[in-house]
Amino acid sequence: MALNVVIMAAGKGTRMKSARPKVLHRLAGRALLDHVLDTAHGLSGTNGPTPAEGAAPVHVVVVTGFGASQVQACVGARGQCVRQEPQLGTGHAVQQAVPALDALAPVTLVLNGDVPLVRTETARALVQACAGERLALLTVELDDPGGYGRFLRDAQGRVLGIVEHKDASPEQRGIHEVYTGILAAPTAALARWVAALRDDNAQREFYLTDIVAMAVAQGVPVVAAQPASQTEVLGVNSPVQLAELERLYQREQAHALMEAGVRLADPARLDLRGTLACGADVEIDVNCIFEGAVSLGDGVRIGANCYIRQAHIEAGAVIHPFTHIDGEAAGVKVGEGALVGPYARLRPGAELGPEVHIGNFVEVKNSTLARGAKANHLAYLGDATVGERVNYGAGSITANYDGAHKHRTVIEADAHIGSNCVLVAPVTVGAGATIGGGSTIAKDAPAGQLTVARARQATLPGWKRPRKDKAGG
Ligand code: UD1
Ligand code: CA
Repeated sequence: MALNVVIMAAGKGTRMKSARPKVLHRLAGRALLDHVLDTAHGLSGTNGPTPAEGAAPVHVVVVTGFGASQVQACVGARGQCVRQEPQLGTGHAVQQAVPALDALAPVTLVLNGDVPLVRTETARALVQACAGERLALLTVELDDPGGYGRFLRDAQGRVLGIVEHKDASPEQRGIHEVYTGILAAPTAALARWVAALRDDNAQREFYLTDIVAMAVAQGVPVVAAQPASQTEVLGVNSPVQLAELERLYQREQAHALMEAGVRLADPARLDLRGTLACGADVEIDVNCIFEGAVSLGDGVRIGANCYIRQAHIEAGAVIHPFTHIDGEAAGVKVGEGALVGPYARLRPGAELGPEVHIGNFVEVKNSTLARGAKANHLAYLGDATVGERVNYGAGSITANYDGAHKHRTVIEADAHIGSNCVLVAPVTVGAGATIGGGSTIAKDAPAGQLTVARARQATLPGWKRPRKDKAGG
């Protein structure tokens, strides 16, 4: 059975005090809206009453308004956008979505674009509680319920409605059960209810939350469900809340890693903005940032203050402190037992074989280094193919760019490149060749021989250093 999902993302987010629409602010490196879209699409294929019904499509409608074109660009093909102009409240937002809904889908799930961490399982439970017949609301008890809509119940605990914080009496503000901004409603009833909303309240807005009292009045059963954890339903309305939620999220991720056996020097000093797959006995020191898809093989050690994005690091490799690895689209691979850093930089297409050593202030881009090759100090390898056991001297660089095109440098196995050499690509250094320090190599250097390309050292006999003339002399 199909499912409608409405994501409300039209609000400006005044309290963010930002030109950027609130739903595009980032949590764990991705827009709040990206997280919500993940939750929505996670429901696909799982909302039919029986598995026999097969894949159940999710029809996602995103309500945009403030910064609509930017928000739409973020949504891309992941949903249909409808415009809400002007933004007259959450009920008004759902009004705009109604014409775009699949009328045959019995349930419509409403998600807040600024509540990013709702788990798919939680949303699914709400959809099932609705079952096309009930209004199902996700609520939570908060120690500090300030700002949220409060849940009103009668003496028997039956739901009466929701009162927004700004409309609540002091007594109602004492209620700790709050509405999370997430509900599942029968599609046809939802359309009727939002059409009947009025804006006679403190903010002169059309509150989606007013449909609860309507459902109660019409005898439609209202049920409340709770999420597994509070983090799931915390909303982001200000930079402080965004930072707090980021920390909560990071702590949960750190704990999950530790439970899987990863040893973190300090779980409070890890930032994971993507996915981190770890083998056994991985150790991560403080202040490391991981982005995109990163994998660390068995026994990998990551030193303090490393930034690692889009990279596969194989078993036993050691990344020393202050190393910067960014694979971007091409990725970075670090082979088994390789040593990298401190202060190394690996760029897209860097592929280090087993036991390779890359030392301080060495930059590697779009280059492969075969087993045991070493570049230990102050060097650049760009567009290079480096053979086994090559020793690449301090201060040497590949001159891979002629101003218009990039060219390759090939250094065959066992070659030694002295210090401070310039290898002007395209050029090949043969197997076992030695290049004298300070050489500029613009022609291929033959295998097994010493090639030197620099002015010969000369000593001028009898030369005297100039002296200042004596005053008055
Ligand atoms: C809303 C709920 C409140 C709940 C809280 C949970 C209402 C009236 N109140 O309050 O009960 O406790 O969420 O986080 O629903 N939006 C639009 N168009 C608009 C207004 C808002 O699309 O005209 C979007 C916003 O972009 C945001 C979401 O709806 O993603 C929630 O809006 P917001 O103004 O933050 O509502 P809250 O005051 O937090
Ligand atoms: Ca909010």
